[in-house]
Amino acid sequence: MPLAGERPTPVAPERVAEWIERFAAISEPDSGPGVTRLAHTALERRAHEVFTDFMAGLGLTVWTDAAGNTIAEKPGTEETAAVGTGSHLDSVPSAGRFDGIAGVVAAMLLAERVVTDGVGHRRPLRFVAFAGEEGARFGRACIGSRIVAGLTTTADLHQLQDAKGVGLAEAMAGVGLDPDAVADARWSPREWAGFVELHIEQGSVLADAGAAVGVVDVISGSTRLELTVDGVAAHSGGMPMHLRRDALTAAAEVVLELEALAGTADDGRRITVGRLEALPGSITTIPGRCVLTVDIRDIDLERQCATAEDVLERAAAIAERRGVTLTSRHLAEASPEELTPSVRRTLIDVAREVGTEPLVLPSGASHDTQMIKQVCPVGMLFVPSRAGGVSHSPHEDTDFGDLARGADLLGAALLRLAR
Ligand code: GLV
Ligand code: MN
Ligand code: MN
Repeated sequence: MPLAGERPTPVAPERVAEWIERFAAISEPDSGPGVTRLAHTALERRAHEVFTDFMAGLGLTVWTDAAGNTIAEKPGTEETAAVGTGSHLDSVPSAGRFDGIAGVVAAMLLAERVVTDGVGHRRPLRFVAFAGEEGARFGRACIGSRIVAGLTTTADLHQLQDAKGVGLAEAMAGVGLDPDAVADARWSPREWAGFVELHIEQGSVLADAGAAVGVVDVISGSTRLELTVDGVAAHSGGMPMHLRRDALTAAAEVVLELEALAGTADDGRRITVGRLEALPGSITTIPGRCVLTVDIRDIDLERQCATAEDVLERAAAIAERRGVTLTSRHLAEASPEELTPSVRRTLIDVAREVGTEPLVLPSGASHDTQMIKQVCPVGMLFVPSRAGGVSHSPHEDTDFGDLARGADLLGAALLRLAR
């Protein structure tokens, strides 16, 4: 039997490929290219059942909390605070196969190696599949991990709706979860000694630098807004150009203004309008209403807040000049989080010990780990994205060998934290 703290035998790339494909098959039929497994749907729950069955098959204790997070535990030699790893199983519409899934598959295969090799560890190991990480459906990301971190309450769950008007609490109840009992899902800092997540980079920094692995220093924050522009719907033939109050042309100007505000410097600030709906959506009607979402990301909290104010001011100025009205709704807020230096150090050490020099880099995307930082020391390992780093796209790609190597480093770090 290997000694406590030793590395388990390597994870096989073929096993990674097998499980990535199995999860990719759990996807909404007829939903276009790629994987669609939205937050708080029956498909997301089915993926969690696959995770549960796998972990239970290894002899681990598995439970699903009221928020839909699934947790598998392997006891340590002492009943003390646990160390954990994991990621999420939901996807955006027309997603790739790797975002979130990579970290869950790494957790599964790592659990398998630790059990099969009989590796000893003092602290309990916990393997986690978070629910509802993607903000794509309800506008707010990391719902499961926010709940365990005490950042989202039952009252919040009753406020959010998806684009079809389905409430988050309603969606949760519809798949057998209990939005009114999520306070019970909260993680106590006394029970957690550390958490490390493996994720694909979702950018091209690692591939461009030829680095096999990345260690994240800071996760960007995000401010999400919904802007509604109200003009006057009218006949596209009857209404002369100079008398129009066109909501869509005003919104279009807002979109370009925000792009200009973000600029082109790669300084950690990003502004995206990802959804724009023109109503009533008829070829012969001037749009009377336009609803758009704005996602502001930044690694600097002060600048993130200032940008959000600037966005609203600039949009209001455009609306005023064009004689339309602007209203805004604040959908979600997450602060940038610096990840725990000691965990970062462990990740760097375990990589260097096997001759891999990691690149330290920020994450532009949000991650569950950002929320878990409220509970315990945290770290994140990135594996390279291929295909130019595209993600939230069916073209998302990562090499299975890179993922297996990432899982090995994750395992080494986790066991060191569990010593
Ligand atoms: C999660 O994928 C995010 O939106 O950053
Ligand atoms: Mn993700
Ligand atoms: Mn994502």
